Amino acid sequence: LWKVRNVCCIGAGYVGGPTSAVIASKNPSVGVTVTDINERRISAWKSNRLPIFEPGLLETVQEARDGSASRRPNLFFTTDIEAAIGAADLIFVAVNTPTKTSGRGVGRASETGFLESAIRTIAEVAETDKIIVEKSTVPLGTAGLIREILDAIGNPGVHFEVLSNPEFLAEGTALKDLLLPDRILIGSLSSPSGISACDTLRNLYSTWVPQSKIITTHLLSSELAKLAANAMLGQRITNVNSLSAICEATGANIEEVSNAVGLDFRIGPKMLNASVGFGGSCFKKDILSLAYIAETLHLPEIAAYWTSVLELNEYQKDRFAQRIVRCLYSTLTNKKIAILGFAFKKNTGDTRESPAISICQALLDEGAQITLYDPKVPKHQIWADLVCNGGEGTEENITICETAYQACHDVNAVVILTEWDEFSNRQPVEPARMDWERVAKTMRQPRYVFDGRNITDAVELQKLGLRVEHIGKSL
Ligand code: NAI
Repeated sequence: LWKVRNVCCIGAGYVGGPTSAVIASKNPSVGVTVTDINERRISAWKSNRLPIFEPGLLETVQEARDGSASRRPNLFFTTDIEAAIGAADLIFVAVNTPTKTSGRGVGRASETGFLESAIRTIAEVAETDKIIVEKSTVPLGTAGLIREILDAIGNPGVHFEVLSNPEFLAEGTALKDLLLPDRILIGSLSSPSGISACDTLRNLYSTWVPQSKIITTHLLSSELAKLAANAMLGQRITNVNSLSAICEATGANIEEVSNAVGLDFRIGPKMLNASVGFGGSCFKKDILSLAYIAETLHLPEIAAYWTSVLELNEYQKDRFAQRIVRCLYSTLTNKKIAILGFAFKKNTGDTRESPAISICQALLDEGAQITLYDPKVPKHQIWADLVCNGGEGTEENITICETAYQACHDVNAVVILTEWDEFSNRQPVEPARMDWERVAKTMRQPRYVFDGRNITDAVELQKLGLRVEHIGKSL
């Protein structure tokens, strides 16, 4: 087995940051150094205003980064990538792998250029043997390519072992998912040194994850399993959303349908909520990547099957926007609409691929004036998502507000796009959540609430004189 004294993580994002914090917290004798080319991100990780929001993250980072009477600090953040690589025995690569914006496979294949650049740095700097762990979600076969690069340009005296260890955490529940994972997946070569590297990584997780939850596979199976998991989760949401359209057209109720279906233990109750559509940096990117891989393998039917999941997700967002327009008498000119929630889901400030972006754009295109509130998304991010991509005049028609009350003041309709608890009227009233009675009093006719996440109790809202539209229900 390899002796691991120092771990390095390249990429201080939504995956690299929380994963490193938990590994450091659970392995106090191992030094964990997180490194990134983005200086602003690294200095934020060193401060108490972390660059990303996750429940419980700050406490975990502080415990390992700042130390205490009973433990020495063992979590470090630096932009000195070379030094971090040089000192490490095991290196996680958790850089971004977004959809390609140019070249072969544009708009579908995943960009592995950031990953390759990180691997090249490792090859150039490393003077001692290293285990390299592919944490990023990558196209099938990437671990093999990494090995080829290392063989071609690495220092000949240095031995590299490449593992695939995809991350299954979900934003908003990252700490919980890391601390109590359903499984840890490690893919390796079946050679003795591959198995030994695999066991070394297993030991790092074993300090808090039961052995039965750590599974090992071939490298390719591990890479495909990550894409498959995201594809099947996205597909599951699309399954329910497709049924929600049938419910709206007939009078069936999607919550009753989901509940009845989910009680079958082969199906299970989770991820069966109808919504305005899925977002986030991963599902779309990874389903596109899977479809592209199928296409390059000359399996066009398989590619079309997975692509249809994404097409239906776009359709669901569009259907919701059109429903808002239809209810508001088919024109939004001179109408004021409050948007509650801009993040792609609750408990994160991440807006990548958030359904809120395209829905706001559709409403702005119809001439609406938008007031917008999200508890965690920074203002500059909302501007970047809407104004930079929007047409002329977009800026004058958006007001970003500090509270939900400000956003809802004097509007014709309120649209809930993120399921933040504070917007639900099923929670106890303030400070935990907003007072819908107060909101109702300040709204203008026709006083609609379009709940794109089904988090409100429609009957209670109707008692306040509000008209309510839910996904998958005709109320
Ligand atoms: P991110 O964009 O938040 O973070 C990636 C970081 O890598 C950035 O800060 C970037 O500056 C840095 N970086 C890029 N190239 C670099 C280089 N050559 N050297 C040093 N730093 C470099 O991305 P995120 O969301 O953390 O995702 C990372 C990977 O994990 C992706 O492959 C993603 O598909 C996967 N993943 C993401 C999940 C999520 O919920 N966000 C969950 C599971 C997997």
